[in-house]
Amino acid sequence: MTKISRSSTEVIEVDPHAPDVETIEVAAEVLRDDGIVAFPTETVYGLGARASSPVAVQKVFDAKGRPATNPLILHVADLDQARRLAATWPEAAQRLAEAFWPGPLTLVVRRSERVVDEVCAGLDTVAIRMPAHPVARALVEAVGDPLAAPSANRYTEVSPTTADHVLKGLSGRIDLVVDGGATEVGVESTLVSVVGEKPTVLRPGMIDRSQLSKVVELGGLGDEERVVDESEPRHSPGLSRRHYSPGVTLRLVESKEFIRLCEDEGQRGRVLVGGLGAPIDSDAAFVEMPPEPEEYARQLYSVLHRFDGDDVDEIIVEMPPEGQRWEAIRDRLRRAAD
Ligand code: TXA
Ligand code: MG
Repeated sequence: MTKISRSSTEVIEVDPHAPDVETIEVAAEVLRDDGIVAFPTETVYGLGARASSPVAVQKVFDAKGRPATNPLILHVADLDQARRLAATWPEAAQRLAEAFWPGPLTLVVRRSERVVDEVCAGLDTVAIRMPAHPVARALVEAVGDPLAAPSANRYTEVSPTTADHVLKGLSGRIDLVVDGGATEVGVESTLVSVVGEKPTVLRPGMIDRSQLSKVVELGGLGDEERVVDESEPRHSPGLSRRHYSPGVTLRLVESKEFIRLCEDEGQRGRVLVGGLGAPIDSDAAFVEMPPEPEEYARQLYSVLHRFDGDDVDEIIVEMPPEGQRWEAIRDRLRRAAD
C-alpha cells in the first residue's frame, strides 16, 4: 500500500453500489491509524475519523477549520451500535430509526459515557446516523467503531457531493478521499432531536416533516434551541447561517423578479439559477433547475460549487416553491444567501 502523508491527499475510486473489500480495507486501515478519510454517504461526502479517538477527531476539526463548539455526527452500522452511544433510547428514537434507518436522518439523543467529549463540544447530547450508502456502511463495519463525520468541506463552505468538491476544499489537509461518484440525496440529513418531550426538527432535510409526522408527533422548537450564532455550544449549531464563498454573493429572488432579471440585458458575471427556462437576452449564464425537489436537491450543491469561481460575481436563484417537500432546499438556499 502507498504510504500516505498528510501533505498529499490520496484518492481511491470505488464502485458506490458494490464497494470491493480491498479498497474499503485501505480506507479502514487509515482510519484505524487515526487518519482522516472523506467518503460518500447518500446525502453528502463526510470527513470521517474514528469516533473513539480524540486525536483523530481533533484532526477533523483542524482540517475543516471548524470551531470546537460545533459537535460532530456519529455514523453507525447498526442499531446496537447507536444505542450504545446513547444514555437513553426514547421510544421516539426507536420509531424514527425503524422507519428511516438506514437513511438520511440524524437523531440527537442524550449521550452515553462511551462518547468522547471532543465529539460533542461539551453538550450532553450526541447526534447519530445510520447511513444507507454502501461505501459508508462498509467503512463503518470494517473499522468496527462508529465514525465521526461532518460534511467534508471547510467550515462555512458548501457541502461536497463529489470527490472533486472535497478536494477543492480539503486537498492536502486530509489523508484520503474514497471517490464513489456523486451522492444521491444531495443535501445534508434531516436532524431531529428526541431529547425533549416531543421530537423537534433542528435541521430540515429531504425526509420532511410530513414523513416524520406519520411516525411521531413533532413539537416546535423551544426558544433556547432557536439559534443565530455558532459560538455557543448549547445552541443547535446546525441552524446557524452559512457564509457563501468569498467574492461571490448569492441572492434569492421571487419568481416575478427572476423572470424580470432573465429578460435584462448585459449581466456579465451573473448566473441565473431557476426553474423557468425563460428566454434570455442577456450575458448572464443560466442554469435551469429541475421541477421536482428530489432532483433539485441532488443538483443544488454542484451548481453552487461550479459557479463560485473568479468570473462570477453573483448567483441569483429563483426561490423554489413553498411546501414541506421544498423546506430543506429553501433552508439551504437561505443560508447560502447573504
Ligand atoms: O447528511 C449529513 O448529516 C452529513 C453526512 C456526512 O452524514 N453530515 C453533516 O455533518 O452534515 P455536519 O457536521 O456538517 O452537520 C451536522 C450538524 C451540525 O450543524 C452540528 O452542529 C449539528 O449537526 N449537531 C451535531 N451534534 C449535535 C447535537 N448534539 N445537538 C445539536 N446539533 C448537533
Ligand atoms: Mg456541514
